[in-house]
Amino acid sequence: MKHLIAPSVLSADFANLQRDTEMLNASKADWIHVDVMDGVFVPNISFGFPVMEAIKKHARKPLDVHLMIVNPDQYIERFAAAGAAVITVHYEACVHLHRTVQAIHAAGCKAAVALNPHTPVVLLKDILVDLDMVLIMSVNPGFGGQQFIPNTLNKIAELRAMADQVKPELLIEVDGGIGLHNLGQLIAAGADVFVAGNAVFAAQDQLQMISDMKEFDQHLSKL
Ligand code: DX5
Ligand code: ZN
Repeated sequence: MKHLIAPSVLSADFANLQRDTEMLNASKADWIHVDVMDGVFVPNISFGFPVMEAIKKHARKPLDVHLMIVNPDQYIERFAAAGAAVITVHYEACVHLHRTVQAIHAAGCKAAVALNPHTPVVLLKDILVDLDMVLIMSVNPGFGGQQFIPNTLNKIAELRAMADQVKPELLIEVDGGIGLHNLGQLIAAGADVFVAGNAVFAAQDQLQMISDMKEFDQHLSKL
């Protein structure tokens, strides 16, 4: 499968969300990554339903909603109603993770679980078969523009090997500090979906950057 690119609107210009969403519509991006932070699970507050609904109004691509919030269960249906195609909850925020995953599916969305950098992938062993995707955090969640944590590559490879046993179609998404400099290694390790905030929105030519990431061919790269 060709890898997917999911630009994060966390790095967009919030005063020009319609313009930036339309740029993503016109780009080679596959999904639009929506980072929701509550100031409790992570030390930052991003945005909630009104902003997500504003994005949804203009978006022509699936919304990939990454919930960095405590007690996500109480908001699953509202995020689904607000237009989420994929809902990702954090392993570290869910006591009854299996129930949460069932609720995401019941709401009609794809279900994914995110792991913080310190959380071992083996903890997902008994739920992998029920998931559509796992999100490996390659920075500590909360902020855009941080530096990629190299151990992420080992976690992706380990998860890919685990998934090959029980759920070969599982998507592996990776989020934080991603750009053309490390895309080749991440593809080689077995990741499928690449979130990029700063790399896309700080680029001189955003459409070109998304295209370069989408068309990236590890075999042609010097990395
Ligand atoms: C971080 C968020 C990311 C963030 C990535 O907590 O989950 O999605 O937007 O931003 P970059 O690509 O700038 O590291
Ligand atoms: Zn994210």
